[in-house]
Amino acid sequence: MSGERVAVGIVGAGPAGLLLSHLLHLAGIDSVVLENRSREDVEGTIRAGVLEQGTVDLLTEAGVGSRLHREASFHRGVYLRFAGATHHIDMQELTGGKRVTVYAQHEVIKDLVAARLAAGGDIRFGVSDVALEAIETGRPALRFTSGGEPRRIECDFIAGCDGSHGVSRHSLPAGTLQRYERIYPFGWFGVLVEAPPSSDELIYASHDRGFALVSTRSPTLQRMYLQCDPGDDVADWSDDRIWAEFRVRLETRDGWAPIEGPITQKVIVGMRSLVHEPMRHGRLFLAGDAAHVVPPTGAKGLNLAVADVRLLARALASFYRTKDESLLARYSDDCLRRIWKGQRFSWWLTTLLHRSDSDTAFDRRRQLAELDYITSSRAAMTSLAENYVGLPFE
Ligand code: FAD
Ligand code: PHB
Repeated sequence: MSGERVAVGIVGAGPAGLLLSHLLHLAGIDSVVLENRSREDVEGTIRAGVLEQGTVDLLTEAGVGSRLHREASFHRGVYLRFAGATHHIDMQELTGGKRVTVYAQHEVIKDLVAARLAAGGDIRFGVSDVALEAIETGRPALRFTSGGEPRRIECDFIAGCDGSHGVSRHSLPAGTLQRYERIYPFGWFGVLVEAPPSSDELIYASHDRGFALVSTRSPTLQRMYLQCDPGDDVADWSDDRIWAEFRVRLETRDGWAPIEGPITQKVIVGMRSLVHEPMRHGRLFLAGDAAHVVPPTGAKGLNLAVADVRLLARALASFYRTKDESLLARYSDDCLRRIWKGQRFSWWLTTLLHRSDSDTAFDRRRQLAELDYITSSRAAMTSLAENYVGLPFE
């Protein structure tokens, strides 16, 4: 069995793992990234679309923002649609210049993979059987299989960036983590549509029949979502049924209708809020979806993952520079302050915009009153805006 050694072993080549590897490289710290999927799969999976201003700034400062600045869509804000009318929330004006950036997660991933490989970075795609060892000692290690061969890499630290279904979190001794969870009784039906954008900015719609969202991916591709039953079968949703539902939920009194086109992908996503605390055990640090998951309504998941690894890279850089462990010791608490605010916002926007079977007529009237308040009070609009474009990094 080959024996190798690296400063930081990273599990998972999602946004968290790849950005961490890149930030460590900029600080002169070597790392290896282990990923169980192929490069094509990682670079082709459609997920998030909206980047906070702080995420865009960090990617730009880290030298991986040039394609983003050429190809992303930059929006002043979003539209809220309810009771047949559309209301613009001008987030740029409300937050002193912060914008909503629409740039797909897999494009961020392509940019990070390209930057790591151009710098000679070590990303091992398609490995299997990843296992974490000795995380409570000063010499943790990653075991895995690559090309049919067993491998072992010793590290100073391990970063568990392997998403909500990864192995890292499960390597902690039982009882170490506190789990906080809320499951929602609805999911999102997501489609990719070959058609130009129906709207110049995202539309979040609350309708008696449920939530709908109009987003975009490119000048020729729209991303749209419908609230659905999480137990639904994609096969039960014909294109006609999907378009009928979008037309109803997005209708306005002045006759707005989405631009329709061929649907090239259909997917159902469950919705939950989940936090594991603390995000560190011994030499293992959890980051991103490996530690916490939000419902997608607030567009916070990728952005929280980025905020975690920003702090982790800074703490590791400080350790390697000065042997000072204080930032590493604070890592979990520092991350969790932002995470819980992201959780609160994502829960709030989700419950504001979705219908639940247990909702009464009173609950619907209360939702509509809150939407009316948000779109008519500058204070309420500002609160929505500052959370959506991203609270400042502390
Ligand atoms: P992941 O992206 O899950 O990456 C983890 C990686 O680890 C994966 O590549 C996985 O293959 C790998 N891995 C897993 N297990 C192992 C193993 N055992 N060994 C090796 N590798 C492993 N967020 C936003 O900020 N804005 C949005 O607009 C937004 N929209 C969303 C829409 C939808 C429909 C969904 C589903 C999510 C959305 N999100 C959004 C959330 C966002 O996609 C996630 O929060 C983000 O991917 C988290 O990044 P990560 O790097 O922590 O984890
Ligand atoms: C997306 O474009 O995928 C998207 C946009 C906004 C959200 C969630 C997802 O809140």
